[in-house]
Amino acid sequence: LNNGLAMTPPMGWLTWERFRCITDCEKYPNECISESLIKRTADLMVSEGYLDAGYEYLGIDDCWLEKTRDDKGRLVPDRKRFPNGMKAIADYIHSKGLKFGMYEDYGNLTCAGYPGVLGNEKIDINTFVEWEIDYLKLDGCYIDPIQMDKGYPDFGKLLNATGRSILYSCSWPAYQEEKKILPNYASIAEHCNLWRNYDDIEDSWASLTKIMAWFGDNQDRLAQHAGPGHWNDPDMLLIGNFGLSVDQAKVQMAVWAILAAPLLISTDLATIRPEFKQILLNRDIIAINQDKLGKQGLRVWKKMGSGSRSKLEIWKRELYDGSFAMAFVSYRDDGIPYAAKFTYYDMQLPQSEFEVQDLYKEEEIRSWDGTSDFEVRINPSGVKFYKFISKKSMPEILDITVKMI
Ligand code: DGJ
Repeated sequence: LNNGLAMTPPMGWLTWERFRCITDCEKYPNECISESLIKRTADLMVSEGYLDAGYEYLGIDDCWLEKTRDDKGRLVPDRKRFPNGMKAIADYIHSKGLKFGMYEDYGNLTCAGYPGVLGNEKIDINTFVEWEIDYLKLDGCYIDPIQMDKGYPDFGKLLNATGRSILYSCSWPAYQEEKKILPNYASIAEHCNLWRNYDDIEDSWASLTKIMAWFGDNQDRLAQHAGPGHWNDPDMLLIGNFGLSVDQAKVQMAVWAILAAPLLISTDLATIRPEFKQILLNRDIIAINQDKLGKQGLRVWKKMGSGSRSKLEIWKRELYDGSFAMAFVSYRDDGIPYAAKFTYYDMQLPQSEFEVQDLYKEEEIRSWDGTSDFEVRINPSGVKFYKFISKKSMPEILDITVKMI
């Protein structure tokens, strides 16, 4: 969507994956979808360096509403959990230098059964503008996915006509893919800033790798539609929660950077362990994700294991400065780090001399000119993530320029 927003993949925090539809604040005071969760997260995004690293949107997902509209037909935030209303939340978020994300559903109801937008488009958009939201995720439960080809663009046009800059996140293709309807990604890219393509992510290695496999298998029809202003969205980051090991969390961060995916954290920033925080705040990897060329990377190589599962994969993304981000993902779980060797051809790299930087800084910088194979050693269900910088674009050339002057 050409609205000047999301020129690089959006970065922020969203409630859903970690906090789902927890509404009982008496039993779960630190986890329920509420003013206090949002304020606490806003404070931590600033004080713990997430905003500085680029995570700027703070979003509420499903389960923020009362079950009925007010007598004027307007949406009402849950009175107990948001006692001061949503404008107060927006003001708080904005006062911290963050941007405010909201959730609604295009159908009759949200997936969790709260009021949906259908038939109330104008009144709801006015409400969102009054609340000064900056980001809207429009879900697609309780509506026929066929109607979305018209419904999502129509809603987007109304949103755009308000004059307020609101980033538009569409769930449109996810519901169509689920029903085996081939989405019109050209139209989706024209009308949305980001869009969910596939299943909801769950807090497990199995779910993460299922999503990765789907994005790899379907990359030929997906990757071409990503670019500044419009991005495929493989869903939220699991990093910091219960289901991924540190090595598996590194896989998600690396592959999401290759995929030019939105980086939407969904974890409790008050209790996150430092090793996970470090992954989320890895500036070199964020820079790859945010690379201004905006070209989605691809899975370029895979070796099958037993059954239909990969044993090892290489994911590659071309960057603005002519260098390449290369993630070597191992699915092996038989105990020890796995060593493998690759040629230029395997990695689909141009023949050149490279300086190779380990983005997780576990290894020293090395030089590689392709006369011997490139060797990597990867932890079980883990990743090695490198930046390959061609020496042609490096200091020697600068030296020549300096000499000429
Ligand atoms: C389905 C979406 O895909 C999820 O990300 C989340 O928004 C839930 N609905 C909320 O009900």
